[in-house]
Order: sequence, then structure tokens, then C-alpha cells
Amino acid sequence: MAEFRLPANSKIGKGVTHAPPLNGSGRMRRFQVYRYNPDDGNNPVIDTYSIDLDDCGPMVLDALIKIKNEIDTTLTFRRSCREGICGSCAMNIDGGNTLACLKAIDEIKGDVKIYPLPHMPVVKDLVPDLTHIYAQYRSIQPWLQSDSAPPPDRERPQSVEEREKLDGLWECILCFCCSTSCPSYWWNGERYLGPAVLLQAYRWIADSRDEKTGDRLDALEDPFRLYRCHTIMNCTNTCPKNLNPAKAIAEIKKLMVLRR
Ligand code: SF4
Ligand code: SF4
Ligand code: FES
Repeated sequence: MAEFRLPANSKIGKGVTHAPPLNGSGRMRRFQVYRYNPDDGNNPVIDTYSIDLDDCGPMVLDALIKIKNEIDTTLTFRRSCREGICGSCAMNIDGGNTLACLKAIDEIKGDVKIYPLPHMPVVKDLVPDLTHIYAQYRSIQPWLQSDSAPPPDRERPQSVEEREKLDGLWECILCFCCSTSCPSYWWNGERYLGPAVLLQAYRWIADSRDEKTGDRLDALEDPFRLYRCHTIMNCTNTCPKNLNPAKAIAEIKKLMVLRR
């Protein structure tokens, strides 16, 4: 049987267990949080914090903010909007990729386990390095491209039906929960664009106002960039905005066949 071993510097050690608050209510919950500091040269560890849920907001992000404000100011994570719009608080919670601000603590049984998005380099603690995936996003040229001039007195027209084709696409907040849950992206992320970037590519392909559909399809016609998707569906199952990147990828593949 094949035996897999982690590289020595990726093994996770036991970290600090912080004492629970004095006079806490009966609604105490433990949070086990991945910690990694590139500056100390040590392996990552799991630190444990106890939170009184009667003295904390309902979402996992509320607990992380409480930990940072009241227990451990060194804990590092991204967040901004606190309402599922900015995409910055994406992380792995209770075994699934999601947004910390949309994940209710009550939905989780037992200790709340929090890790950074999987298979990405970690900058610090819960902050993944998104440099490569942002470069991939940039590569699909995510802006309207048109050779014809727009009407002089108004924006480019689009029928109701044409506009509806963008529903399920424009709502993507680029949190990358989908790409980091995709096994094909884990193994081929250097060359496969992954579900988030491909959904964004389709968003422009599907836009009736864009006149570069052929060029956009040419850029994706490649054994790695598009065709590493094997319809495993992790992406669609994990998207916290209930979008369907696997369907967007299938639509691109359909267009590839149709234009042959
Ligand atoms: S459907 Fe495609 S993109 Fe989505 S998880 Fe599966 S392989 Fe990845
Ligand atoms: S498709 Fe969903 S999971 Fe993927 S980046 Fe967009 S919002 Fe996030
Ligand atoms: S803080 Fe903006 S999506 Fe969670």
C-alpha cells in the first residue's frame, strides 16, 4: 500500500490552550485555530481558545474578532464587510471552505476547527497567499472588450433576456472557496485556471455587449487551462453564494464544441 508522509516542515504541532474566561456561562465553545508565523521558523500549530457564546455574536467571524480583541491580538485573518460581500474572510471551517461571516457557530457540533483555505501557501495564520490566483484572474482579462463605439448618449443596450444570462455569474465575490476545494486545482493549480477564474471567464463570454468571445475561447482552448475540470462538483457544493461554477465550465466546453 502506498504510504504518504507530510514534509517535516508542514506537520502541525500542538499549540497554546488559552484559559476559558472566568465567570463564563454554560454556553462555552472551544475554537481550534491554525497558527503559522513565517518569522519564527517553527511549524504551524493549533491554538485553542474558549469563548462564552452568550457574550459573542452568532457567526464564526464574530468569535475570531472576539479572540483577536480580547484574548490574542497576534491572531491574523482577513475580513471587511461582515455580510458575505467582500469575500475576504474565506477559510476552512469545520472541514468545509466557506465565509466566516456567513457561518453560524450554532451550525457546528463540538469544537470549531478553523484552517486557512487548503492547498494555498500561507502568509500568516488564516491568510492565504492569493498572488497566483489573482494573476490567473487577470489573465482572463475580466473587463468588457468591444471594438464598436457605444451609443453617444447612453450606455450599451442589453435586452432583459441578455441580461438574465449573467445571473448566477455576476454575484461571484472571488472568495476562492471553490478553487481551493477543487482536487484538479490542488494538483494542477499552476496551469489549470480553476472554477472561480473559469466562472469569471464565462461571465464575460456570456455578456452580449462583449465582442471578444472568439479571442476569449481561444485563450481557454488548452488541455490545462480549461480541460482539467473533471466535473467532480466540489466547487458548486462549497460555494457560499450558492453559485454553480461547474455549470459555467460546462457552458464554456459546450461553446468550444459548437464553434468547431
Ligand atoms: S467540477 Fe471541475 S472545477 Fe468544480 S471541483 Fe470539479 S473538477 Fe474542480
Ligand atoms: S463561484 Fe462562489 S466560491 Fe467560487 S469564488 Fe465565486 S463566490 Fe466564491
Ligand atoms: S467579511 Fe466580507 S465576506 Fe466575510
